[in-house]
Amino acid sequence: MPETKQKLQEKPMETSAVGFGFQGGKKKKSEAVYMVEEQIRTESKDTKLSVSILKAASVDSPSHAELRKKYRIDKYDLHPGYVFPESQQSLIPRNTPEYIDKGFNYVERIVRALYHFKQCALIGPSGTGKTHIVYLVAELCGLPMWEINCGLQTSAYDLFGRYIGLGKENWIDGQIVMWCRNGGILYLDEANMMKQDIATRLNPVLDTRGHIVLTEKDNEIIKRHQYGYLIIAMNPFSSEFVGTKPLNAALRRRMSVWINFDYLSIGDKVAPDEVELIMKRSGVDEKTAEKIVRVGAELRRQYKNGDLPYGPSPGDLINWATLVADGCPPIEAAVETIVGTTSDDVEIQAVVKRIVESIFEK
Ligand SMILES: Nc1ncnc2c1ncn2[C@@H]1O[C@H](COP(=O)(O)OP(=O)(O)OP(=O)(O)O)[C@@H](O)[C@H]1O
Ligand SMILES: [Mg+2]
Repeated sequence: MPETKQKLQEKPMETSAVGFGFQGGKKKKSEAVYMVEEQIRTESKDTKLSVSILKAASVDSPSHAELRKKYRIDKYDLHPGYVFPESQQSLIPRNTPEYIDKGFNYVERIVRALYHFKQCALIGPSGTGKTHIVYLVAELCGLPMWEINCGLQTSAYDLFGRYIGLGKENWIDGQIVMWCRNGGILYLDEANMMKQDIATRLNPVLDTRGHIVLTEKDNEIIKRHQYGYLIIAMNPFSSEFVGTKPLNAALRRRMSVWINFDYLSIGDKVAPDEVELIMKRSGVDEKTAEKIVRVGAELRRQYKNGDLPYGPSPGDLINWATLVADGCPPIEAAVETIVGTTSDDVEIQAVVKRIVESIFEK
């Protein structure tokens, strides 16, 4: 009889998993991944065989367990008893940067919505952290991520699949079909920019029918995976801003929970948490970080009023602060970062530069 033994060990491992990316001046150490060593011993007559296999543990690492508690999502298991196959493990995000969630409880609200309704919608201006939080939720819940930006002119072939070559046997699944078969989070960014033909085909999979019909493949019916979750995100519709559109009505009806996102600091409100984030991720001192956030808050106020075409995200402020921490004078660093990010119109750039000067030259 083969005898199997398991032991858990911590090992630093370079992973090729998807991640939200690195930003800021301080490099983060690669995080430990928990590995299980499985030993199989077998004996027959005079031969003894011992094999040991090292693989990533399917259990949560202790730091994940702590974070799940901190965000109060430990009671929601989004794939009870189910381990995603090896081929999808690399689609589960890892090392997502810290996310400030104080007072908003976005993580808890999203996970709760997924647990009860399997899908939800996130609405908020550009840079309020919608994409970042979806990566965090996927990581903490151990779910593969399938991300699609609906604003890009992605074809139905890429999303649903196609035959390659001549033969009928060479079919490859598109992203949406892969999600439908394998589960995880399908994240549709800029969902209001989705083309009508795609929205129409998505409708049946998002309601009680729960399946996709592949008309291009002899009407094959693909049932939605039992742990297939959907999150859509978009900027709020506003008639002043070019390019924003109201969400397709059929898609809107299929979403049960809507979560509104806003900036951490805006106008006169400067969030100490955002100041701390900028300090931590760039290395600037508190006074500089506070001024940077004050500029950001003012630009966002003007953006929401319709006076500027863009409001900076915490990520944009981190870029600016990173150059300052490297020794670049703040105004010069702003010109290279947020001034250009806001617009390429020189008049608008001058407005932004004046706001920076008014706060930094005091
Ligand atoms: N609450 C937050 N805590 C930490 N970082 C944040 C937070 N909100 C935003 N960020 C950072 O700001 C940047 C922009 O965030 P993200 O891309 O998630 O915004 P978004 O809402 O998806 O924007 P868009 O609508 O343009 O897609 C990222 O670098 C992200 O890490
Ligand atoms: Mg986004």
